[in-house]
Amino acid sequence: MASKKVRIGVLGAKRGMCFAGLAADTGAEVVALCDTNEQILANAASQVGAKAYTDYDAFLEHDMDAVVLANYFHQHAPFAIKALEAGLHVMSETSACKTLGEGVALARAVEKSGKIYLFAENYPYFVYNQEMRRLYQNGVVGELQYGEGEYIHPVSLGDKLGLGPGFNHWRHHMPATYYCTHAMGPLMYITDLRPVSVNALCIPRPKDEYDGLGVARNDLASVILCRMNNGAVVRLAGLGLRGHGNWYRIHGTRGLMENLRVGNQDMLRVRHEPWDLQPGEYSEQIYLPRWPAESEEAARRASHGGGDYFVMKSFVDAILTETTPYFDVYKGLDMSIVGIQAYRSALANGAPVELPDFRDESVRVKYENDDWSPYPEDRKPGQPWPSILGEIKLSPEAVEHARKFWGIGPNDPGGQP
Ligand SMILES: NC(=O)c1ccc[n+]([C@@H]2O[C@H](COP(=O)([O-])OP(=O)(O)OC[C@H]3O[C@@H](n4cnc5c(N)ncnc54)[C@H](O)[C@@H]3O)[C@@H](O)[C@H]2O)c1
Repeated sequence: MASKKVRIGVLGAKRGMCFAGLAADTGAEVVALCDTNEQILANAASQVGAKAYTDYDAFLEHDMDAVVLANYFHQHAPFAIKALEAGLHVMSETSACKTLGEGVALARAVEKSGKIYLFAENYPYFVYNQEMRRLYQNGVVGELQYGEGEYIHPVSLGDKLGLGPGFNHWRHHMPATYYCTHAMGPLMYITDLRPVSVNALCIPRPKDEYDGLGVARNDLASVILCRMNNGAVVRLAGLGLRGHGNWYRIHGTRGLMENLRVGNQDMLRVRHEPWDLQPGEYSEQIYLPRWPAESEEAARRASHGGGDYFVMKSFVDAILTETTPYFDVYKGLDMSIVGIQAYRSALANGAPVELPDFRDESVRVKYENDDWSPYPEDRKPGQPWPSILGEIKLSPEAVEHARKFWGIGPNDPGGQP
């Protein structure tokens, strides 16, 4: 294998094409693509020159080593399990699982298969986050006491409808706490800590959002507090609030570090109190980190500040060297279930909820039948609505506007709210 390219199949030819485009730079080649949308698939296959499939089972039979899963946000676990059972390595986009029960099944499937599973969380690989990991691991700010991770990503109505084609698309139903891995991932990567319990609140959408033409049934944003396994507390903030940006802050026992809120957000600020200063240290330093060596090249080649390049490279390297990647299935599950348990907390007005450690089978058995899900296809008594306000009904104007935007009628797939 060492001299060969890793042969990869990509499921989901929208986001999946970012990784397909990085194959040649990372020691892989894309040999197969799969998407149920024939137009998207044909376009992607002509760019990559790979065999195109609309059926996932047929795709899995293609002669290849690994799959990249970039299908719908809430459908990764069953697709990952099928690929592992077919003897393929798996790299999965966020989120790792839709329910805690799926998380248990995924952890067991990875262990049984002996294959590589990599959780494709890319925000830890922004240059300033990699630099914060280097500083933290060298003891520059001491041990984490309080941290912040913010992923704030407001979108216009046009972008929202474009990103979520169809009333039942996951982007309109995913609770606001669920997209938390971009906020949590860097904090775990910098410190090697994991979250153990969560308290959260959601912030509902304003009634007049997008002049009443929005079709989302979920909340706008959330704030999540996590207790970490060393006793520290981190605060995660996420999603559609005004004021786009990603910010990470680490208060340690010896100092503070954070990326800048104003000016160049890629710059880092490191601060020490005067009585903590050690020889060669400054009370305050602000600088543009340039580490690791390939980070500038990565940022030129890949989106998300070069993060996508490092994710893809970690996957290929893990396969070639037969080693477990940093973001293995357990860290992927740690992060993903923060979102699920945080929503349970938010529905109970911020009550504490535990975050089980799925490394431990005796913990897993308690959650193996947990199918609590806010998505429309799972609706039944006992399941939550995706907003803390309960069921959100769309106005006839919003329905009409969205159908026109998508060019569909009431009887087309995804045409009914
Ligand atoms: N890490 C990041 O920075 C980042 C950025 C964008 C998207 N994402 C993630 O990527 C994933 C995909 O998001 P997206 O933006 O591409 O939009 P999306 O979820 O709308 O696209 C999914 C694609 O997968 C295809 N698909 C779905 N089910 C399928 C099936 N059973 N068989 C074959 N094809 C199927 C769809 O036709 C569609 O083309 C999500 O998990 C999202 O969270 C991550």
